[in-house]
Amino acid sequence: MRVLFIGDIVGRQGVGIVVDSLVGMRREQSIDFVVANGENSDGGSGITPSIYRKLIKAGVDCVTLGDHIYRKKDIIEILDTQDRIVKPANYPAIAPGKPYAILESATGIRVAVISLMGRVFMKPVDCPFAAADRVMAEIPADVKVRLVDFHAEATSDKQLMGRYLDGRVSALMGTHTHVPTADTQILPGGTAFQCDLGMTGPHNSILGRDIANVTEATISFRPIAFPVAKGDVRLSGAMVDIDSRTGLAQRIERVSLNEKDASRYGDSNDDEDDDR
Ligand SMILES: [Fe+2]
Ligand SMILES: [Fe+2]
Repeated sequence: MRVLFIGDIVGRQGVGIVVDSLVGMRREQSIDFVVANGENSDGGSGITPSIYRKLIKAGVDCVTLGDHIYRKKDIIEILDTQDRIVKPANYPAIAPGKPYAILESATGIRVAVISLMGRVFMKPVDCPFAAADRVMAEIPADVKVRLVDFHAEATSDKQLMGRYLDGRVSALMGTHTHVPTADTQILPGGTAFQCDLGMTGPHNSILGRDIANVTEATISFRPIAFPVAKGDVRLSGAMVDIDSRTGLAQRIERVSLNEKDASRYGDSNDDEDDDR
C-alpha cells in the first residue's frame, strides 16, 4: 500500500494546497492512506473543528498534531469524539484526545496511526519511548501497518526514536521543525524514516511566519505578532510504499509540490469556509 505523509500544515494557504491537490494526487499516485500534521493549520497555531473536517473531506485519513494541539480549544471536543485525529501518545492520560487511531484504508487494510513528542528543546512531557512501547503492545498484532509522526526538535532525538522503533513500525516521520531533511531512507529493520517532512504552507517565510515581523521581534526584542506569511506555497511530505502483509516499508520518496504542481492535480474540493 502507498501512504502519503504531509508535513506541518501552516495557515489557510497550507490548508488550501492540500484541499486543491489531494483528491487528484490520491487518484493519480494511487495513494491508499494519508496522514497529515495539522498543528499549525489555523492561522499558524492550532486547528479548529472546521479545518479538521475540511482536511478529512479533502482526503486526509488521519490528522496528527504537536505542541500546538490545544491552542484552539474548540478542537478538544473533536479530539475526544472523532476517530481520525490523535494526540501525542506521551501526553498524560487525562489530556484530551486518543493516544492512537486504528483506521481502515480505502482498500480495507487496517492502519495504526501514532503521534509522539520529543523532549529535547521541547516542553516537558512523558517518556516517548515508554509511550511507544505501551502503544505497540496495545495495538492488535494483526494491525501490521503502523505509522508514527514523531514531533520533535532535535535530529538526534528523531534518529534515536527511528532506531528504537526500527522493524516495529512501517514508517517514522519527523515533524515540527518545518524544514525537510535529506536523510530519507529505509532503516535496516524495514522502517521508512525521515527526520523532518518539512512544512506545507508559505515558504517565503521564517517557518511559515512573516519575515519582516520575525526579524523585527528578534532584533528589537519588542513583542510583535507573527502573522502567517504569503507566497511560494508548497506541500511537503513523503510517500512510502509498505508491504501490508509484513508492515515493512519497501520504498520512500520525498514529496515537494509547488502551487503549479498542485494545480496540475486540479481537483478542487472547494468549500468556502473562511478559515485562516
Ligand atoms: Fe509545526
Ligand atoms: Fe510543533
